[in-house]
Amino acid sequence: MTGRLEGKVTFITGAGRGQGRAHAVKQGSEGAKVIAIDICENIESNPYPLSSWDDLQETKALVEKAGSQCLTVKADVRSRDQLADAMEQGVKEFGRLTTVCANAGILPMAMGDPNPTDFQDAVDVDLLGVMNAVRVAIPHILSAGREGSIIITGSTAGMMPNTLSPARDPKNMMGPGSAGYGWAKRILISYTEEMALHLSPYGVRVNCIHPTNVNTHLIHNDGIYAMFRPDLEVVTREDFIPSSEYFQALPIPWLEPEEVADLVCFLASDESKNITGDNIRIDAGSYIKWPNGPA
Ligand SMILES: NC(=O)c1ccc[n+]([C@@H]2O[C@H](COP(=O)([O-])OP(=O)(O)OC[C@H]3O[C@@H](n4cnc5c(N)ncnc54)[C@H](O)[C@@H]3O)[C@@H](O)[C@H]2O)c1
Repeated sequence: MTGRLEGKVTFITGAGRGQGRAHAVKQGSEGAKVIAIDICENIESNPYPLSSWDDLQETKALVEKAGSQCLTVKADVRSRDQLADAMEQGVKEFGRLTTVCANAGILPMAMGDPNPTDFQDAVDVDLLGVMNAVRVAIPHILSAGREGSIIITGSTAGMMPNTLSPARDPKNMMGPGSAGYGWAKRILISYTEEMALHLSPYGVRVNCIHPTNVNTHLIHNDGIYAMFRPDLEVVTREDFIPSSEYFQALPIPWLEPEEVADLVCFLASDESKNITGDNIRIDAGSYIKWPNGPA
């Protein structure tokens, strides 16, 4: 532990696994106390399972192993009340909130009959869930000082044209859920700039990171595999590698969650104290390779 986040209290959504867990462990290892929340159940229209309570407990154990403390709360980012309650519990336990990682997200691609409500289901989590987390955090961050860092997780999907709905962009054949994902991530770009402006006078920073493919359940599931390898009946992780590698300029199939966590830790720390309102790509060159969307 090097203590870059000593004295900080960080609230992380979607902390049961994947990038959220990596944020919890990394920030814990740097001295932050962690309030880790996750839905711990599935969302019906999302075609792959979400984290369980046991997953969230595993995150807690890993944060403790890294030398810090972790409070876990089951909460759905679609419910502002549940988030407010979780934050209340965390602040009671650890003191003043300094950091928010609005990370929870789903990519509900319909494989079969596309359902228009999938668009809304994606937006509810990927956009409104972020806004809910930020909304309930602001009074806490402002109540006891003028310092704070809000880090939102976007996606390169929000920067590339072919994540719009198929009606607008025939290259996107992934249905309304995927279009909702891309739209939500796109809106997060201007939301970040807007909130950063409003919070700057109070010394609170807001930034958004935009990763390319990351080695988590969000890409490693049957739906994504079938989408990218329609030529195969059974698709393995190895079969998926070339399709995933295709997105990045650097010759890698995906980022590791811990690599994204390093960037988020920097944004949570005072080392980034003059950075706000930024949309930061961590994409191994995927945007410069495909500014008009992958061919
Ligand atoms: N994996 C990728 O390729 C990739 C690329 C770019 C951006 N992202 C973004 O990164 C973020 C983290 O995703 P990940 O890659 O770790 O995927 P993941 O599926 O492994 O983790 C997402 C976590 O969010 C939780 N979650 C989902 N809906 C929730 C809700 N309503 N309330 C609370 N928790 C909820 C899940 O249970 C899960 O633990 C998401 O915002 C995602 O859109 C992922």
